[in-house]
Amino acid sequence: MIDPSPHRAGDTVASTLAGPCWALAVCVDANLIWQAVFFLQRSRANDPAGRLAHYLYCSDPVAPVYRDILGPDVTIVEVADDSPGFADVGYLPYVTAATMLRFKALQDLTQRYDRVVYSDVDIYQRRGSFLELDGLAWGDLAVAGVRDVSGWAGSRHARTADRKVLPAHARDKYLNAGVLVVHSANFRSRDIANRCLSFIAANPEDCALADQTALNCVLDGAWLELSPSWNWQTAKGHGALCKTRNPRFVHFTGPRKPWADKTRLHDEIYATAMAEFLRAHALSEPLAALEAALAVGGREKRLVEKQADPDGKLAKLLADGTAYFDRSDFADIAAGVAPYGDTIGGLPTPPGPAGPEPAPAAISIHDQNKGAPRMTLTQLAAKYDSDKGFVKEAHGYTWLYDMLFFPYRNQPVRLLEMGLQIGGPEQGHSPDRETTALPSVSMWLEFFESAHITGLDISDFSWFENENFQFVRCDMDARENIAKAAEAFAAPFDIIIDDASHASPHQHFGLLETWRFLKPGGLYIIEDLHWQPRRFERKGFPKTANMIKEFQETRSFKHGHPEIQDDLNAIAPEIGFAYTFPERFRPEGRPKVAVLQKTF
Ligand SMILES: C[S@@+](CC[C@H](N)C(=O)[O-])C[C@H]1O[C@@H](n2cnc3c(N)ncnc32)[C@H](O)[C@@H]1O
Repeated sequence: MIDPSPHRAGDTVASTLAGPCWALAVCVDANLIWQAVFFLQRSRANDPAGRLAHYLYCSDPVAPVYRDILGPDVTIVEVADDSPGFADVGYLPYVTAATMLRFKALQDLTQRYDRVVYSDVDIYQRRGSFLELDGLAWGDLAVAGVRDVSGWAGSRHARTADRKVLPAHARDKYLNAGVLVVHSANFRSRDIANRCLSFIAANPEDCALADQTALNCVLDGAWLELSPSWNWQTAKGHGALCKTRNPRFVHFTGPRKPWADKTRLHDEIYATAMAEFLRAHALSEPLAALEAALAVGGREKRLVEKQADPDGKLAKLLADGTAYFDRSDFADIAAGVAPYGDTIGGLPTPPGPAGPEPAPAAISIHDQNKGAPRMTLTQLAAKYDSDKGFVKEAHGYTWLYDMLFFPYRNQPVRLLEMGLQIGGPEQGHSPDRETTALPSVSMWLEFFESAHITGLDISDFSWFENENFQFVRCDMDARENIAKAAEAFAAPFDIIIDDASHASPHQHFGLLETWRFLKPGGLYIIEDLHWQPRRFERKGFPKTANMIKEFQETRSFKHGHPEIQDDLNAIAPEIGFAYTFPERFRPEGRPKVAVLQKTF
């Protein structure tokens, strides 16, 4: 029998709002501790009102660094193997103590809260909250959850390793134990936790899937079935189907987890978010392990290619699973909760009967916000190694760009970038150096749903082939060069970014020779105003930061070369606003990046 744990001071029931009080628990040992902390952080971020009380049960001591990250709002319960109430928990030799800890957590917390959620930590909360399940019609059922992925494609019986011991109803309706939503009163009155443990103790050989086998045998199909939105299992390729339904919780079932996913099976958004979390909290050891695990080698590359799905396996998986995904009798639907979110992209679907062309929907920021999680520019900068975000020089421009470019994200945007890969003449290297990557261009191509990018550089990037990319080679050291290169531009542009040599003359030439290709309302951005390579500076050319400051104050340009001053002042009336953003976005910082908008 499990005894409840003594609770610490401060461990109070969180909700004072009307409705049931909810708690959420994860149970791990030291091996999965950062994943647990990451999961809890996301869950807390999705619960700004603090209605969900968060618990971390750990069968090992929790290091101070993790305690600090979690702070006082997460109750940490350390349970030693021999602690009272845990010593008799039914162990199986091949599962960790933490696996069984979930029964103890549920037994504890169902005494204090009306509803308790147990979640594995190989789960990523994409959106939403368990609190949306407030209105479930429980009857006398104790557990709500999601059918195991083995039963999604219409096969009548669970094809799991423990199928031989399952009672009849459990075979037809087999629960995946990764997410358990529990009605406390029913759970306790039916003594579910102790019955599961007794089952394991009496049938250790039969419990091939440990706690999951026990739960299915004890519940025998008598559980409330939720849509897969609450536990979208990725096994067998179902991870790739996420984008067709936009579920809330994705469960990385099977051996490949996002933090050890050399085959790039999972959408990179998960590993990138985890890396960002580890970086933000200076958790260098797990970060190094994650980065090493994600480095793609030759063998893995072949696997990635295989997963490109040339045989249309995913389409078949989707066709087989659709009847299940779109069932209308899930308990969450009955409680008035929409199971799936808006989707972006998805798999190709066969064309339907021809009908009138739908009118193009007006894009609003609100609509765009509802979509499935997509990488921010800050995440993409880390992915492609651009210093516009927080890797390398860590200029942090992507914080600004994420806001500025958001309205363009789903638009057929045309963007010109001058300067494509660090390491050219601005760093003292030959313009004929070997170039190897286009970090920022790759980032734009992924960020914008349908963009066309023109890239200009003194070095050769003509090897980079992408139907949405055009390369123009040009040395910006002379205005005529840019004017000549511009003849080939796929203009006009919505956005122009000067991230080339950063030399003042080049910045002035770039502005003068490309401004006319900017659309009305378009944005012209000049990066790295704080750093000019001295060898390209010229007499009479003010620093661009000072020149723009003067313009902000007087609405006219001052320049040491009269013809350039005249040309700048000729475009001045077309400049709607000119901002410079300071280093680290702090008032005392030096100007780093300028944004000019062309009048409409
Ligand atoms: C800071 S890097 C660009 C970084 C890139 N945009 C990114 O975010 O990863 C500067 C680029 O400017 C190019 N460059 C340097 N001098 C130039 C010149 N005179 N004309 C045109 N491009 C130049 C370099 O070859 C280099 O690719």
